[in-house]
Amino acid sequence: SRASPLSTCPIFVLITQAKESKTFQAIQEERREQAERSVLISCPSKINENTFLDDLSKHGTINKHFFYNSYGAYAVVEFSSRESIASLKESTNIPAVEHEAAVPFKSRLLSLKWPGSQSSNHPMPKFKVQSPLSINEISQLLSEKDSIDEQLQCLTEALELTEENVRLRFLVCSLLQDIAGAYFPECIIRPFGSTVNSFGKLGCDVDMILDLDGIYATSQKKGSGLSLEYQVKRGASERAVTQSILSVIGKCVDQFGPGCVGVQNILQARCPLVRFAHQPSGFQCDLTANNRVAMKSSELLFLYGQLDPRVRHLVFSVRCWARAHSITSSIPGAWITNFSLTVMVVFFLQQRNPPILPTLDRLKELAGPSDKCVIEGNDCTIVSDLSKITLQQNTDTLEKLLQEFFEFYGNFPFNKTSINIRKGKEQTKPETTALYIQNPFETTLNISKNVNATQLERFVALCRESAWLLQQKEILNQCPDSPWGFAALLLPSVTSGAGVKSRRKRKLEPASSRIKNLLDSLKIKGGETVAKKGNA
Ligand code: GTP
Ligand code: MG
Repeated sequence: SRASPLSTCPIFVLITQAKESKTFQAIQEERREQAERSVLISCPSKINENTFLDDLSKHGTINKHFFYNSYGAYAVVEFSSRESIASLKESTNIPAVEHEAAVPFKSRLLSLKWPGSQSSNHPMPKFKVQSPLSINEISQLLSEKDSIDEQLQCLTEALELTEENVRLRFLVCSLLQDIAGAYFPECIIRPFGSTVNSFGKLGCDVDMILDLDGIYATSQKKGSGLSLEYQVKRGASERAVTQSILSVIGKCVDQFGPGCVGVQNILQARCPLVRFAHQPSGFQCDLTANNRVAMKSSELLFLYGQLDPRVRHLVFSVRCWARAHSITSSIPGAWITNFSLTVMVVFFLQQRNPPILPTLDRLKELAGPSDKCVIEGNDCTIVSDLSKITLQQNTDTLEKLLQEFFEFYGNFPFNKTSINIRKGKEQTKPETTALYIQNPFETTLNISKNVNATQLERFVALCRESAWLLQQKEILNQCPDSPWGFAALLLPSVTSGAGVKSRRKRKLEPASSRIKNLLDSLKIKGGETVAKKGNA
């Protein structure tokens, strides 16, 4: 493997050895192709795994399979060739339904009819978990760790998407592609956002793009002699065409898509989308179209996530902390989004001395000719070969980085300064919105335009409080039976409950009730007081 300052970090070596030869695109293609060879089968939970596999193997070699539970048992089965899917479909029937009628759409979502006389003396298959731990379970798990660094690493492992969950996400995209493909056979439905940017946690939504680029690719082939064009229907704008395509596909998903429920067309949004729930997987899905920049942003975050293991640990921690304190929300509004938070972590890591992450301009400089990418006039070029990136040696611990993250944003001059990961520098704010984070690729836009002053102040107040808590070594002393370290930062805050008004008061009176409770618990558990009240 390549020699770089990072080789000194054992976790990094493990990651790069597995992934360094593959670019983001190559990884996505591989997963997409796997999904096309896969089926999703609803089955009885007491299924005999061996009989099931033997039976399916009649259609071809099975590469991989797993079971999971989501209001019933399901199996994902990946064959080694697509012909197996055709063969399996040949032997599958449209059900005869009583009192109702079936839409005869043949998808790769199947139901297994198990013969009645099966013995139940066989072992149950192992079901893979697809749902996240609760905050309480996380807190419990973290409190058993010996250091904050271990806590943050453990947090990532507990929250991150599993291999099976990622496969299921790609499979759901592939199932949707079968529906959209009825209109646009060359279309591809690709996941983006946290499914692929390496910061996804179990339970996060599946963001999808309907990619129609393949259609234009074929029409650009120059033939000799006569040149023909398709006669096409026209729309008033790119946006209008996107809306019309999404509305028809939304309707089709609603009426023909097995397992797709609660379909909403949200076509007036800045980025028009179709939202629905895919019941068999339990995923909330957002289907957009004509959204190539978002895909590039996902690649960029993925790349940053691969460069140093501390990036993912810090992003997972900050996202979890923000969610626990309702800084972020699953409902859209004036809140900071996970995307903005991630960019803030990247920016913070670019500011370390020496920097842990390179600037976006640097990633552009390192790009090769095949990396060139311009989307609607925006240069979105970034290097795809990770091995071209050399990093400086920075050995800061996660604990130190977390502490400094809170101090950095607790004291950041948000009123006059914007966050810019392209330059890796603070810049003068071009407009007066509360929080200005330059869109990495559409550089005239602000990704956090939605955030209002109140929400920003809540974030700043919580950063200060958490920074202060992390300085109280006594309070953060290990205590296996009650939340300590990072777990203590997830406890309800004095600031969030009482709102921003309490901030001034808290500055004068830092021993908040929350800290008092912690102290009390230490007193009780330790038999004697080990902590003394600190001053902010
Ligand atoms: P989750 O909260 O875990 O779903 O994180 P996410 O990264 O998937 O975020 P979300 O589902 O809100 O958005 C999906 C993707 O859309 C993000 O990863 C970004 O690439 C992009 N995106 C989201 N919000 C914005 C925005 O305000 N501006 C731009 N340019 N892109 C955005
Ligand atoms: Mg998302």
